[in-house]
Amino acid sequence: MLEGKTALVTGGSSGIGLASAKMLKDNGARVAITGTNADKLKLAHEKLGDDSIAIQADVSNLDDLDRTRSELQQAFGKLDILFANAGVAFNTPLGKTDEAMYHRMMDVNVKGTFFSVQSVLPLMQEGASIILNTSWLNQIGTPKKTLLSASKAAVRSFARVMSAELVDQRIRVNCVSPGTIETPIHRGPDETDEHFHAYVERVGQQVPVGRMGKPEDIASAVLFLASDASSYMLGTEMVIDGGRAEL
Ligand SMILES: NC(=O)c1ccc[n+]([C@@H]2O[C@H](COP(=O)([O-])OP(=O)(O)OC[C@H]3O[C@@H](n4cnc5c(N)ncnc54)[C@H](OP(=O)(O)O)[C@@H]3O)[C@@H](O)[C@H]2O)c1
Repeated sequence: MLEGKTALVTGGSSGIGLASAKMLKDNGARVAITGTNADKLKLAHEKLGDDSIAIQADVSNLDDLDRTRSELQQAFGKLDILFANAGVAFNTPLGKTDEAMYHRMMDVNVKGTFFSVQSVLPLMQEGASIILNTSWLNQIGTPKKTLLSASKAAVRSFARVMSAELVDQRIRVNCVSPGTIETPIHRGPDETDEHFHAYVERVGQQVPVGRMGKPEDIASAVLFLASDASSYMLGTEMVIDGGRAEL
């Protein structure tokens, strides 16, 4: 499906990003991933195989993004698919949130997404597809999530405006909007398997389909948006949340 195409997945060392990188690669694309943690990146690179590329880079650091573009230029020469997926999630309750928390959320989720796109655009040609990662939280009001929800609402808006700006170049921008997906983003550093599994069970019961999502549930949508099968879609958001936001 993606033979001859090249893809960059930011935050491709874990969870949704890693599952998407694997699915893009299994469908014929040459894939590069980024992440900040060298150990996680190395493990992910081993899982993807030698013909993939792993670049240690922070999406909120513009020098890192420039270096990523140079490495992609050297390795691929062009870029057909960007999955701007890197993101952080944490609670920011009113009255308990400091400025550093505000900057971290916005620097990675908003600034990081915007500059990830801007940085690789010179490598993209007609027919390229950009996929942004939002969240079902941008549609609802959940306590303690003011900044996470707002950061993802900003990314949702990026897809509309960037699509309008890039339509003449025939580059499409769309979003995937995951519900609650079983990834390390929900897991504390010292959390036991038992505690995490109990969390997965509990949250799964709140979802109409009766389970938390798997990273592959999102990767399938990323593959679709990356491919020409979705060539009539731009500026849109695919909500993949087991029915949570709508039912
Ligand atoms: N899981 C969910 O329920 C859910 C729901 C809605 C939306 N999402 C979105 O899905 C995306 C992926 O999350 P996930 O659930 O797959 O979590 P995850 O397993 O924790 O993966 C997050 C990825 O982003 C990378 N990352 C974090 N900060 C980065 C930075 N500054 N620069 C580059 N890479 C960075 C992480 O690598 P390092 O730690 O090494 O940097 C990791 O590879 C996020 O944007 C998240 O908001 C997730």
